[in-house]
Amino acid sequence: MEIKVSNDITQMSAEVLVINKFEGEKTSQEIANTYAVEKDGFEGKLGETYLLHTYGKIPADKILVVGFGKNEEFDANKMREAVCKAIKKLQQIKAKNAVLDFDVTIDYGKSAAIGALIADYAFDKYKTEKAPRLETITFAKFSQKEVNEGIIFGNALKMTRDLANEPAQYATPAKLAEIAQNIEGVDTKVYDRDEIERMGMGAFLAVGRGSDQPPKFIHMKYTGKNPKKKIAIIGKGICFDSGGLDIKPASSMLTMRDDMSGAACVLGVMSALAKLQPEVEVHGIIAACENMPSGKAYKPGDILKAKNGKTIEVDNTDAEGRLTLADALCYATELKVDEIIDLATLTGACVVALGTVASGIMGNDKEMINRLVETAKASGETFWELPMFSEYKNSLKSEIADMKNTGSRMGGASIAGIFLKEFVGSKDYIPKWCHIDIAGTAFIEKPQKEFISGATGAGVRTLLNYLKKA
Ligand code: BES
Ligand code: MN
Ligand code: ZN
Repeated sequence: MEIKVSNDITQMSAEVLVINKFEGEKTSQEIANTYAVEKDGFEGKLGETYLLHTYGKIPADKILVVGFGKNEEFDANKMREAVCKAIKKLQQIKAKNAVLDFDVTIDYGKSAAIGALIADYAFDKYKTEKAPRLETITFAKFSQKEVNEGIIFGNALKMTRDLANEPAQYATPAKLAEIAQNIEGVDTKVYDRDEIERMGMGAFLAVGRGSDQPPKFIHMKYTGKNPKKKIAIIGKGICFDSGGLDIKPASSMLTMRDDMSGAACVLGVMSALAKLQPEVEVHGIIAACENMPSGKAYKPGDILKAKNGKTIEVDNTDAEGRLTLADALCYATELKVDEIIDLATLTGACVVALGTVASGIMGNDKEMINRLVETAKASGETFWELPMFSEYKNSLKSEIADMKNTGSRMGGASIAGIFLKEFVGSKDYIPKWCHIDIAGTAFIEKPQKEFISGATGAGVRTLLNYLKKA
C-alpha cells in the first residue's frame, strides 16, 4: 500500500472519502450528517465505522465515517486505532484507494500512517489467496514529514513481524545474520562458532550445540551525528525453542518459532535508524541459535562458563534464553555503553502474570525504567514493572557452580531478571540496564486491538521513540 499526502481537492474524486466524527459533533460532510448521524444515529464511538454511498452528490463514490470518540479524549494513540479500523473496513469492502480527510487541529500524520500500515499487514506470502489490500491512501491534512516518520515506523514493524512470523525452517541464525549484514547505514560484524568459542561465550555456545544450524553472534552498529549516548539493544534470538533435552510438550512448542522476537525487534529497529537519524550510537546485539535436543545437546547438570567467568549449573535446558543473553550482556558491557536494553520472549511466568496485554520490565535504574514505561505508553505499547527483590536470588543458589540457570517457576519472570543482572557490568563500571520480557506480547494467538494473530512487533515503536529522544 502506498501512502501519499496531498492538500488539494482532487481528493474528492476518490473511490472512498474517509472522514471522522467526534461524539456529539457533526462531520465535515453534510450528506454524512444527514444520513449517518441524523437518520441512522451514528454516534462516532472510537473505531466505529459507517459507510454510505453518495450517489453523485459529491465526487467520491462513498464516504466512510470513522468514529473518533470524545474530542477531549482524543490523542495520537486513538488516531492510530481509528485509522487502523477504517483501513480494515476499506479492505472488507475491497476498496483500492481512499482519501483520509480528518477534521483535527494537530498534525497526527505519524500515528495515522503507523495505524494504516499496521492494518495493511498480513503474513500471506505462503498463501495462494492473498489478503485484500488497498493500493493507495492519501492523507489530506497531515504533513509529509510526520507521515514519512510514520512510514519508517510502520516498515520497521513490518520487518519485525515478518521475521517473527517466518517459520523456523527459514528464519535460521544464518538468515538473521544475512539480514543484519544487509541493513543500510549500519556496520555489522557476524561471529561464527569458532570465534564465539574464542570469545569465551560458553553459555551461548552450549545452548546452540544440539542444533544442526550453526550459531551466529551478530553485532550491528549505527552511529548518529553528535552522539550524546551509547546504547546497546539486545534481542533474544532463539530461532526455535524445542526446550532442548528438557523438551517442551507439543502444545507449548507449537509457536516457538517466535522465540527470536527480541532479535526481530532489534533488526527492525536497526533497519530504521539510518532513515530516522537519531543523534545516538546504537549497538544492536543478537546471540542467535536454536535450542534443540540431540546427541550433541547440552544437558541438565552441565556446568557452563559465561564470558565474564561466572559458572552456571544447568538445571533446565528450557531456560536457554537467559544463557544466551548472559553472554550478550557481557559483550555489551565490554563495549562500555551508557545503557543496555534487552528484549526477550523469556518466561512463561511473565505471560501468566501479565497476559498478552503488557510486557514486563525490570532493571537496575528506576529513572530509566520510568522513561521506558512512559515512552511505551506514548507509543501505544504497555510495559509494566516487575520487582527484582533480592530474595529471588536464593532460588538460583547452586552447590557446584556460581548459580543455577532456572531456580523456581514461582516468581519466574523476576528470577530470570535477577539471573540476567549477574551479567550486566563489571567490577569497575555498571551501565544502566533494563530487561523487557515480551513473552506474552510479541506473538498473539487471537487478534487483539489493531493486531491480527501472530507477531506484533512488540518493542519496535517504543525503542524507536526512545532512541530518538536519547
Ligand atoms: N521461550 C520460552 C518462554 C516463552 C513461553 C516464550 C511462552 C513465549 C511464550 C523460554 O525459553 C522458556 O522455555 N522458559 C521456561 C523457563 C523455565 C524452564 C524456568 C518457562 O517459562 O517455562
Ligand atoms: Mn525455553
Ligand atoms: Zn526460549
